[in-house]
Amino acid sequence: MHANKVCKEKYRMKNKKMQLALQMVSGYGAEFSAWRMPGTDPKAYTNTDSYVERAKIAEKGKFQLIFIADSPGLNNDLSKQTPQFPMDPMLALMAVARETKHIGLVATLSTTFNHPYNIARQFKALDVISHGRAGWNAVTTSGQVFAANYGAQLPDRKERYEMAHESIQIVQALWGSWGEDAWTADAEGGQYADMDKIQPVNLTGKYFASRGPLPIPPSEQGQPVIFQAGGGGEGLQLAGSYASGVYANPYDIASARAQRQMIRQSARQFKRSPDDIKMFAGFMFSIGATEEEALERRRKLMDFAIEEIPGRVRYLGAMLGLPLSSDSVDIEQPIPTALLSRAYANPQDPRSPRALELALKGLSIRDILAHGVINYHPVVAGTPEQVANFLEEWFLAGACDGFSVVPDISFDGVADFVHLVVPILQERGLFHEEYEGKTLREHMGVSYQYGTVEK
Ligand SMILES: Cc1cc2nc3c(=O)[nH]c(=O)nc-3n(C[C@H](O)[C@H](O)[C@H](O)COP(=O)(O)O)c2cc1C
Repeated sequence: MHANKVCKEKYRMKNKKMQLALQMVSGYGAEFSAWRMPGTDPKAYTNTDSYVERAKIAEKGKFQLIFIADSPGLNNDLSKQTPQFPMDPMLALMAVARETKHIGLVATLSTTFNHPYNIARQFKALDVISHGRAGWNAVTTSGQVFAANYGAQLPDRKERYEMAHESIQIVQALWGSWGEDAWTADAEGGQYADMDKIQPVNLTGKYFASRGPLPIPPSEQGQPVIFQAGGGGEGLQLAGSYASGVYANPYDIASARAQRQMIRQSARQFKRSPDDIKMFAGFMFSIGATEEEALERRRKLMDFAIEEIPGRVRYLGAMLGLPLSSDSVDIEQPIPTALLSRAYANPQDPRSPRALELALKGLSIRDILAHGVINYHPVVAGTPEQVANFLEEWFLAGACDGFSVVPDISFDGVADFVHLVVPILQERGLFHEEYEGKTLREHMGVSYQYGTVEK
């Protein structure tokens, strides 16, 4: 039997379902020019309803969670582009929490630029308010531009990861510092809480210290779910030690599988069950009734960012080992045969094989770019079936436990995915039809945890 078929059988037998996270990108969508597309509110950045509406649609589509990526600061030029991050992810999630009932609420908060007490407090409060739906994406944050907002130098990588370990350990200890059955709230007897069960944590590390306790009781899922994203070997250790969810950005099935296996192995190494860590592969899409329609949508997005084309053409050239320049080639035409015969997939960039494949098919340079070959995640521009086929292939090959899907344009991309792709996935038995429970831990099928102890 073909290896892929073996995997298919294995997964079908286990009746596993993929999980879906909706990644929200400052209200507009993955593409920087999404804000200019018809239908999009150009000021969606400050319109909290846009988060709420998208989250409600995702909840109708039974998404396990929404995820708001974040870094503390501005790292791009706003003269043509929107900010990459929301005004404040926690406040956006708070608004969403009040308007939804099931969907998980996950945001990034930096371990380098926040005190663990503040992190513990904000996330546990969100978890209690949302009845057990909060998740914290603990990232170290790279970029001096962000450090400068705190009047600081960016600590070196080793230090950032040491800080992250300390931060998470303190956060978890603080979460557990209000004992699970400490809150008696006995109005008749006059005891509000059992103070023997609400105790300081008294932790002192190299970078952070906290006495505690954190005066917040457990939520329905105990405490927030920890996520982790990126970060090479150090990130892997962090994930294996604490995370229940990992955001990853592989470009092909083989490297995704390898990464998932490494994450699972890292969990074993830290005496945790590998099934308690779910890997979400980043995935971008543009949906149309036909592939041509989906591509046209992306061509329009590119037209709104015309000034970026020369740079993108050069970048594509580097991916193919060719000196491409928009001054010397017609981007409406395929790469000239004489050049193309010398093209190869640059091994430095894992996205290169896809670019080469499309170039060899004879697509115009503009259309190769429109397919999103230099996007942060793999892109499918096509029909709902094509999108579903991609997700099915990766999932059944054991490449991931689910996907962090990033719509090109939030305005209609989320609804299209929910109305057109989700039913196909459900019909194929790949995605659940109902929430399994009420909390994010239940949606993800990961263990209950309180304090530093997984149960
Ligand atoms: C899918 C995905 C989402 C990520 N989200 C964030 C984020 O919201 N904020 C952030 O600072 N880093 C995020 N990262 C992690 C960064 O890519 C990077 O690994 C991190 O900033 C740490 O960098 P360092 O390992 O060099 O310290 C994400 C990574 C991936 C793969």
